[in-house]
Amino acid sequence: MMEVTFYDREQETKEIMNTLRMKPRLITFIYGPINSGKTELITHLIEELPEDYVVFYINLRTKLLASYDDFIESLFEMEMETEGAFRKRKETLAELVSSVTKVAGIPITKEFIDYVFKDNKPKNAFSYILKLFEEVIHSGKQPVLVLDELQKIGDVKVNGSLIYELFNFFIDLTKELHLCHVFAVTSDSIFIERIYSEAMLSGRCEYLLVDDFDYEQTMGFLDVYGFEDQEKELTWKGVGGKPVSLVKLINAKVSGKNVEDVIESMFTLRTGEIMTRLKIVKELGDEITIGAKHFDVHHEKLISALKMFAINDAVGVDEIDEISKRYLVKENILFVDPLTNMIKPQSQLDLLAIRDVAA
Ligand SMILES: Nc1ncnc2c1ncn2[C@@H]1O[C@H](COP(=O)(O)OP(=O)(O)OP(=O)(O)O)[C@@H](O)[C@H]1O
Ligand SMILES: [Mg+2]
Repeated sequence: MMEVTFYDREQETKEIMNTLRMKPRLITFIYGPINSGKTELITHLIEELPEDYVVFYINLRTKLLASYDDFIESLFEMEMETEGAFRKRKETLAELVSSVTKVAGIPITKEFIDYVFKDNKPKNAFSYILKLFEEVIHSGKQPVLVLDELQKIGDVKVNGSLIYELFNFFIDLTKELHLCHVFAVTSDSIFIERIYSEAMLSGRCEYLLVDDFDYEQTMGFLDVYGFEDQEKELTWKGVGGKPVSLVKLINAKVSGKNVEDVIESMFTLRTGEIMTRLKIVKELGDEITIGAKHFDVHHEKLISALKMFAINDAVGVDEIDEISKRYLVKENILFVDPLTNMIKPQSQLDLLAIRDVAA
C-alpha cells in the first residue's frame, strides 16, 4: 500500500487553532459521519502543534469499557520503573510531568493508581488529573485533553452515569478553571444529538463538523495522485468525498487496477451489506434500546425511511420515525446532524446503495 499524505483540512485546522490560542473556555465536540477523517485530522494537528502544548490523547476505540475500573484503566498509562540501580523512580507529579512528551496518555505511578481506584469514585481520578494538569501549566506548557470515541463511555455507571461526571469535569477544566482545552471526538450521531439537547452542556460547548471532502477538495486530492478527469468524475459520482474510499481508490489506481471496476465492486459490497441487514430485520426481527426501554424495529418502516432518499440527498430529522432513525444510524447507514436537523446517508456510496435497495 502506498502512503497517502495528509490532505487539506485547512478550515477545520484553523478553527481548532483559534480555540487553542485562546484560554480554555468551552468543550469542543468534533463530530461527523463515519470515516470522514476526524481521527486523522486530530492526530495530524497534534504532530504540527508547537512544543508548548502537551496533548493527552486517549482513543477509547479499542478499549473494552464495561465498568468504572475499565474506564480508569483506559485513561491512565502506568509509568514503569526504570531499570538500573542509579535511575531514580518517578514519584512526584513534577517528575511525571517532566517526562511527558508532546502526546501521551495520562501518566500515573503505582502510588497514585491506588488513590484513583479507591472507592470507585471518578472524583478521585479527576482530582488527580487536575493536579497533573496544574503541574503542566506550572512547567510553562498548556495541557490539551483529547478523548476519541467518547460515545464508548455510553452507559457505564458509577452511582450515577459516568458520562455526566465526565461532562462536569470537562466543564471544570474549561469554563470554570480555564486550565485545559478539551476535545471530544465521536462519529456516533445519536450520541451527538443527545449531547446537543443536554441542558448541562448548553452554552458550555461548541461543535466542529468534520465532513467528507466537498467536490473541490475531492478533485484536488485526486489530482495529487494523477487521476484523469473521467476517473475523478466517476469517483465523485460513486463514492463522493469520503477520505477512506478515496484512499482506497488511489491505492487501487497506483497498483494498476481499473478505478471504475473498484467503484463497482464497492457498490456491490455495500448494497449487499444493507440488503442483508434489512433481510435479517424482515425475517428475524430486531430491537433497539433507548434508555431502559426496548423497541421493535419494523422492516416496512425502515424501507419507507430509506425511500425518502430516492430523490433527496438529505431529509429533515422529523421525516423519519425515531426507531428507524436510531436503527439506521446505529448500523452506520444514516448520519444525523443535530446542528442542521438533517439526516443524510453516511456516504455517497450509502446513498447509491440505499437507492438501489429501497427502490
Ligand atoms: N485529510 C486526509 N488526508 C488523507 N487521508 C485521509 C484524510 N483524512 C482521512 N484520511 C484517510 O481516511 C481514513 C479514515 O480516517 P479516520 O480514521 O481519521 O476517520 P474517522 O472520522 O476518525 O473515522 P471513525 O468515524 O471510524 O472514527 C484514514 O485512515 C486515512 O487513510
Ligand atoms: Mg476516528
